[in-house]
Amino acid sequence: MPPLVDLRRLPKHVAIIMDGNGRWATQIGRDRSDGHRAGSDTVRTVVRTARRLGVEALTLFAFSEQNWQRPAPEVTALMALLRDFLVREREELLENGIKLRAVGRTDKLPPAVREVLEPLAAETAELEGMTLTLALSYGGREEIVDAARRLAERVGRGELDPAAGDEHGLEAAMPSLDVGPVDLLIRTGGEQRISNFLLWGAAYAELHFSPRLWPEFDAECFYEAIASYQRRERRFGRVAQLPKSEASAADAE
Ligand code: FPP
Repeated sequence: MPPLVDLRRLPKHVAIIMDGNGRWATQIGRDRSDGHRAGSDTVRTVVRTARRLGVEALTLFAFSEQNWQRPAPEVTALMALLRDFLVREREELLENGIKLRAVGRTDKLPPAVREVLEPLAAETAELEGMTLTLALSYGGREEIVDAARRLAERVGRGELDPAAGDEHGLEAAMPSLDVGPVDLLIRTGGEQRISNFLLWGAAYAELHFSPRLWPEFDAECFYEAIASYQRRERRFGRVAQLPKSEASAADAE
């Protein structure tokens, strides 16, 4: 029986570290790239599930800045899968009003990926059903550094007042924040790390760690993550909310 999810209190922005493809493949004596292929099927399931529930933004850590250091055949296989995914899912994204975009140092991606990614991002730019962001060649520290550099350059050219280099200025220069801060950050595969994902945007995110390897993460696991988010109390550094009766007594004091 799937866990109960309250559709009125969904996290607006869910982000996922999709970990465990390699281990899943190794466990059954297959090549790591088979694990990534199975992982791309899970991507499809989770995107559909999030869209059906009514999540506004889903950000997936599909390829980190550090992943370029993996063996060349694995990087090549991941890039081919990414291209296939974009080609195959185009129609479904359009039919379901899903806006696709990418964040990260995407200029490093091979032309074969960019030539499908960029037109699809343009084609879906006005859709409002859900925003699916793929973090590609992405690192949280790198995004902060790139934002700070862009602001500094604008100040240097006299286009920006140095006072604009505050928290809001930096946030506005970070594309991953265009869909707002992360409410729920899920990591699969049993590890409990943030691994340089959305460092700024996840500052107050609720964290959910699933022991499931990504190829085995299914719709029910996604519901469970949302249900666990809904059991938490989010305080953002403030004190707990008092029940109404106690709050009015406290106001009167
Ligand atoms: C980590 O698993 C996962 C990745 C490095 C890439 C995630 C990629 C996909 C899910 C497939 C392609 C993406 C899309 C959007 C179609 P790992 O290999 O590090 O797992 P391990 O810890 O078991 O080695």
